[in-house]
Amino acid sequence: MSENDYHHAAQRAAELRDELQRHNQAYYVDDSPLISDAEYDRLMRELQGIESRYPELQSADSPTQRVGSTIASEFAKVRHRQPMLSLQNAMDADEMREFVERLLRFLGRDEAIEFVVEPKFDGLAVELVYEDGLFVSGSTRGDGQVGEDITGNLKTIKTIPLRLNGDRDELPQRLEVRGEVYFPIADFDELNRRRAEKGEPLFANPRNAAAGSLRQLNAAITAERPLAFFAYAIGVVTEHRSLSSASDDSTVSRGDEATNAASGDPVPAGSVGAGRFQSQWQVLETLPRWGFHVSERIRRCRELDEILRYRDELNADRDTLPFDVDGVVVKVDSFALQRELGELSRSPRWAIAYKLPPRQEVTRVLEISVNVGRTGAVTPTAELQPVRVGGVTVSRATLHNMDEIERKDVRIGDWVVIQRAGDVIPEVVKPIVERRDGSERRFEMPSHCPECGAEVVRPEGEAIHRCTGLSCPAKLRESLFHFASRRAMDIDGLGAKWIEQFVEHGLVSSVSDIYRLTVERLVRLDRLAERSASNLIAAIESSKERPLERVLYALGIRFVGERTAQQLANHFRSIDALMHATIEALTAVDDVGPTVASAVLTFFAQETNRRAIDELRELGVRFPEVAPTTIVETGRALGGLRFVFTGGLEGLSRDEAKMRVEALGGVVVGSVSKKTSYVVVGADPGSKLAKAQTLGVPVLDEAGFLKLLDEARAGDHPF
Ligand code: IVH
Repeated sequence: MSENDYHHAAQRAAELRDELQRHNQAYYVDDSPLISDAEYDRLMRELQGIESRYPELQSADSPTQRVGSTIASEFAKVRHRQPMLSLQNAMDADEMREFVERLLRFLGRDEAIEFVVEPKFDGLAVELVYEDGLFVSGSTRGDGQVGEDITGNLKTIKTIPLRLNGDRDELPQRLEVRGEVYFPIADFDELNRRRAEKGEPLFANPRNAAAGSLRQLNAAITAERPLAFFAYAIGVVTEHRSLSSASDDSTVSRGDEATNAASGDPVPAGSVGAGRFQSQWQVLETLPRWGFHVSERIRRCRELDEILRYRDELNADRDTLPFDVDGVVVKVDSFALQRELGELSRSPRWAIAYKLPPRQEVTRVLEISVNVGRTGAVTPTAELQPVRVGGVTVSRATLHNMDEIERKDVRIGDWVVIQRAGDVIPEVVKPIVERRDGSERRFEMPSHCPECGAEVVRPEGEAIHRCTGLSCPAKLRESLFHFASRRAMDIDGLGAKWIEQFVEHGLVSSVSDIYRLTVERLVRLDRLAERSASNLIAAIESSKERPLERVLYALGIRFVGERTAQQLANHFRSIDALMHATIEALTAVDDVGPTVASAVLTFFAQETNRRAIDELRELGVRFPEVAPTTIVETGRALGGLRFVFTGGLEGLSRDEAKMRVEALGGVVVGSVSKKTSYVVVGADPGSKLAKAQTLGVPVLDEAGFLKLLDEARAGDHPF
């Protein structure tokens, strides 16, 4: 791998991580997804691909390391005594057949076994806990291990019994019931109609409305929403001691049971409470007697054909059901067999979700418009004649990118098949070519950004078009934030909070506007007191002196990270030289390959960007020229010392490090021996580090190395 590839991979991984994080927030926390599930998966797979190629890029906080939802911090966390698993999917009849065959093989049986089939409700999984028949607490599924305590909100749901029917003695001492909270479709339509009237944002679908309503910190709002609950499973069930027998470990006293659960033994759902329940069917028969709603569409089947037929029937009735379903859940009925089958890491072997086909509808593409995203990505979107797709009115569908439009050959005016796959943002499946009448027009990507007028380019090898404007409003906040950040212009105090205000109040609409801010203008914003206003202005003032490499980094040129900015600054020494550099001159720089070079070239070719740089200069940003040699240290402080470098340094090139050592009288050698004075270790070090450790040679990281140079120059290091 070349260093350049690695650099790109690292940068792309960081971008993807940011983006996925943003979508997680939008999906799980704000309940208003920005992209389709398919698009999300594509981003996730791209990141997984990079991380598997370069495992060192995988960070503990990467979205790939997290399963399921993020947990909003406002609710108390609850660890489920028994994990809330998810389900494997079968996309079609063949996959369903394979599932059944696999089970029989695993169990070593020829004869059919009993299954229970149920609708797969499209809502939110929750767990309810009852003690002596009283509802005591409830939580969301969360990541399957830990959910949020939403007891107060669940209590507002009328189909969740607060007290179970039946005598105390007949009820379990502790009962965990699992099921789905959903938003009935008729009520969902009504909710959105009222929200539209009030000019409030609409919920994309009933599931999001359910999630949004359930996560309200104020239970009074949840109470206004007509949520409902279907029960479909049990978790840990504890019996009163009088019912328990010594050999039955599912029927233990309260104290014992807590220990039992804490041991974390993986227990299939069916096995717990097996003293009372022997099968899923029995559970589904019992729950209504206690007061829970169980869907009437449940059925017992033995043959694959029956399962397939059940699914087709459910699909045919899908649009007339009062709730959203997105599949059929097929479960092995017997708890004894469930135990025998056990589970995989996140899903049981004894159940599967047999998906329904995505809902499709036909409508017309009225226009194809483009949106500019945060990173400048220009995404085409089909504006559709509004059409109802499974209870939701759809008027836009994503077209992803130009390749996608060309591959599908979607034209403006086309009749198209659209679908809601993940029930999030709809997609155009295909045009109905037979319905063309010749009036259809092909879409062309605008050559200039509709937001700011800068050129739109499609970097080589990429599918996505990007706006190149430095001051594009859609990109503005992000670029300002980057510009002011610590490693760039380091404007102390100018964080996201102020930037948002400045942009909102029209105080700043380009990076150069930062230098037009005055104390008087700032104090007019009510939240900014005079003192902090003058501090901020002072910080802005002092940023004008930042060295060239930092200003270059601050400009946010694609692919130009700190290290590349440093190389460019050292090589070209002035902003003018860099602005006039040819592609050949650029690629001659250490670490600069064709991709980086063309990004730099494109950036400076933009009139808007050149103007922004002129303005910055006029406003006093110095863009200091880099002196012919940056090596200021001279002397013999390092005389007689031998240095070895391993791994990549961040802030300076290997050559530069070598020059600095030599300027102070030291020598740089290639391999570690007992005579080596220091081994300097950067990112991704090689075997030299291990050798240094074996030989007891002192090891320095980059910061330690720079400190040593400083001290050597100052002459106060006792080497
Ligand atoms: S059983 C291990 N039954 O599907 C058993 N789940 O991917 C898993 N769901 O988060 C639960 N309807 O929200 C089960 N009739 C049903 C279901 C159902 C919907 C959801 C549930 C869970 C997801 C599993």
